Amino acid sequence: MATVQTLPTHVAVVMDGNGRWASKRLLPRSIGHRQGAKACREVVEACLKQNIKYLTLFAFSSENWQRPREEVQAIMELFLSSLKNDAETLHEQGIQVRFIGGRTQFSAQLRELIDQTEALTKANDKMLLSIAVDYSGRWDVMQASKQLCKQVQLQGLNSDELDENAFEKHLSTYPLPDPDLFIRTGGEQRISNFLIWQLAYTELYFSDTLWPDFDAKELELAFASYAKRRRSYGLVLEQIES
Ligand code: FPP
Repeated sequence: MATVQTLPTHVAVVMDGNGRWASKRLLPRSIGHRQGAKACREVVEACLKQNIKYLTLFAFSSENWQRPREEVQAIMELFLSSLKNDAETLHEQGIQVRFIGGRTQFSAQLRELIDQTEALTKANDKMLLSIAVDYSGRWDVMQASKQLCKQVQLQGLNSDELDENAFEKHLSTYPLPDPDLFIRTGGEQRISNFLIWQLAYTELYFSDTLWPDFDAKELELAFASYAKRRRSYGLVLEQIES
């Protein structure tokens, strides 16, 4: 990969386009998801090579449960087989894997594999790979709000003492820094209820490439675009430069 000056620390990805990739080839959507899982492996490898510290992948949204039953089943089976096949390799590569989102709707077998993978990799520190499954940004904000309310009740806090830091501690991504770069493949330009709080100042990058075709070269294009951005966080340029 060509060297770019400024690499993101945290990259968040909406992996869109698996279904269209398959339909274009007259294949079932499940094959598109399988190819999508291959693209995940390539992107994880590429991020590792580039020393990206945090990679967060949106693998299954809370809304995705409403897809046709066979498709949901195929995706769940893909999660199972990917975890079985890849957990050890990820561990050997020094990658910590963690899952964010609800877990109660998964099969006992999948929950167990998720727990095992998290336990196996928990001491790794080359890269933290967060996989968002049964996740939605609004769910995250709600569950964080509920936890904060409980804390307020238990500790008898005054609401005036609460600030963004107090809230963020309850988000499922804590203690990760907010994403620097958000990538969405598949041509649509929206956030689709991903990390809605955490993306407040994130640079957005949209690619027309369908996720199964997204590879190290495509990632390089996204990084090159990121390197050209001026992140102002609401300040003026002179303030940033000084
Ligand atoms: C969106 O494409 C993709 C999904 C809902 C599933 C994503 C899952 C994977 C890429 C497999 C990941 C596996 C692991 C282990 C992380 P879409 O189906 O909405 O595509 P479309 O917009 O073309 O219909």
